[in-house]
Parts: sequence; structure tokens; C-alpha cells
Amino acid sequence: VIELSLRPTSLAQYIGQTTAKENLAIFIQAAKLRNEPLDHVLLYGPPGLGKTTMASIIANEMDVQFRTTSGPAIEKAGDLAAILSSLEAGDVLFIDEIHRLPRAVEEILYPAMEDFCLDIVIGTGSTARSVRLDLPPFTLVGATTRAGLLTAPLRDRFGVLSRLEYYQANDLQEIVERTASIFNVKIDSAAATEIAMRSRGTPRIANRLLKRVRDISQVKGETKISIETTDQALQMLQVDKTGLDHIDHKLLLSILDAFQGGPVGLDTLAATIGEESQTIEDVYEPFLLQQGFIQRTPRGRIATPKTYQHFNRPLKQSD
Ligand code: ADE
Repeated sequence: VIELSLRPTSLAQYIGQTTAKENLAIFIQAAKLRNEPLDHVLLYGPPGLGKTTMASIIANEMDVQFRTTSGPAIEKAGDLAAILSSLEAGDVLFIDEIHRLPRAVEEILYPAMEDFCLDIVIGTGSTARSVRLDLPPFTLVGATTRAGLLTAPLRDRFGVLSRLEYYQANDLQEIVERTASIFNVKIDSAAATEIAMRSRGTPRIANRLLKRVRDISQVKGETKISIETTDQALQMLQVDKTGLDHIDHKLLLSILDAFQGGPVGLDTLAATIGEESQTIEDVYEPFLLQQGFIQRTPRGRIATPKTYQHFNRPLKQSD
């Protein structure tokens, strides 16, 4: 429940993501002026950047109910049909990890999104017939880590595509300070900056680090979270100065040491460090790519000069 209360509930409270926020504010205002539900929205981007939060804010701003489910939770077409037929006019239906909807379930969504109707088959064999049921108009908000994971017909049915980006350090600092005040703890601004700079551009990580820093600060009997305690906590958590964690280190050092800087294929890399390929691709790699620690080439992942520098390694001689 604490997790929920940390989430901002309006666009005005939502820090960062200026582009997404400004665009959505206009589309929401226009839909309200026309007394229509908002067009379907696809939110995409790396985990922890606030896709679920943004979806719940859309419902709040539209003054409608927020219904939530996820791709893997819906196994059969009937499950989705049941959810859709229980919606009320204008509701926001949020489907997290929408790229993981089974194909047969996804096909139910097409007419639902396009014409607000449900095509269901009654009976079997020669007595089977299809009936079309009307649905109340609703807004589907889908979330996925990469828009490219969606099938084209599903992607094409969203009217608004909004990409969430990694946060700037100043926005993350503001988020850390906001969360600290919700926790009722004081924090030095240097400590908040430090957490912000070491959170991989990700509010979920910033808030998690803040919780652990708060634990240590509390045990030490501090009245205000200090930069020293923050440093100590982040070292304990194996988060380095640039925010890279233990798994980032394993991944980068594996490219440097086991594969002489690369190129190395994703699956080979995953097997070497004992992580899922999908996790590397969705969670770790996007930040490492964005920060320029790795590059993707047709032959696989390679380390960059920045990576050699980061680990104090002499640059590989190009041959
Ligand atoms: N908490 C987590 N993400 C946030 C954001 N973008 N704005 C405000 N508070 C947050």
C-alpha cells in the first residue's frame, strides 16, 4: 500500500517525462471537451519509469475508473471477454506487458478497440455461430518495454504512442526528496543528488535505494540522511559511482574478459553470466546502451572505450 501512496495521482504531481506529460495533457483535455473517452494509449519504455503510474493518472485525469490486468494473466479469450464486458463507459483498462497476450486473446482486442464490440462464438461444430456484443466505449492503455514487441495489427490500433525516457538526475533528485517527505525523513540535498545520480535514470530504483539508505541512517541514529551514510549504503548495495550494479558489472566484465571486448551474441552472454536473455535485453542493456557502455552490432554486443576506462583496463588494440 505504501508503494501505491508513493505514486503521484495527477499530471501536476508527476515529475519528469515532460514530452509525454505535455502531449497527454492536451489529448486528455480535448477528449474531455468532446465528452469522449481518450483514444487508446500505448506506453513503452524500460521498466521502472512510471508506465503504470501514468496509466492510473490518465484514469484520474479523465475522472473514470482504473481497471488493471496484464498480458500473462489473461490466458483465454473468455478471460478478456469477461473483463471487457464488465467495463463501464469511459473506463481505462490497463494491460501491463501487453506484448505477452496470447495470440487468440489479442484477436478479441481488435474489434473491441476499433468498434467497441465483442465477437464471440457460441456452440461448437455445425451449430456454432458468432454473435456480436456491444461494449461501452473505453480507453485501453497498454504498457510494454519496447513498442517493437507488439504485433503490427495491435500496435496500429493505438491512437497515442508515448515513449517514457530515462530521467534526468535533477528530476530524480526531486522524486527522491518527494519520497523522503512522504516517509517523513529528512535528507541532505547532497545525499538526494547522490541517490539520483546512481539510480540508472529510474525512479523505481531511486526509491528502492532511498529505502535502504533510510534503513542504515535510522540504525545509525541520524536525524537527517547524510551523504556519508548514503555513500556507505550504496557501497554495501554494490552500486557504483555511475549507478552500475553487480549484474551490470558481471555483464560488462564478461564482455571484456571472456570475449575480449566482443562481439558476443546475447544468448551466449546470458548463459555466461547466468541471467535470462530477455532480462538482459529489457532491463540491463537499454541503460548500458544509452550510457554508451556497450554497442549492438550485427555480430553481437561489443564493449566501448568508456567500458575499458570504467574498469581501468588498457584499450584493446584494434587489429
Ligand atoms: N515517484 C515515482 N516516479 C515519480 C514521478 N515520475 N513523479 C513523482 N513521483 C514519482
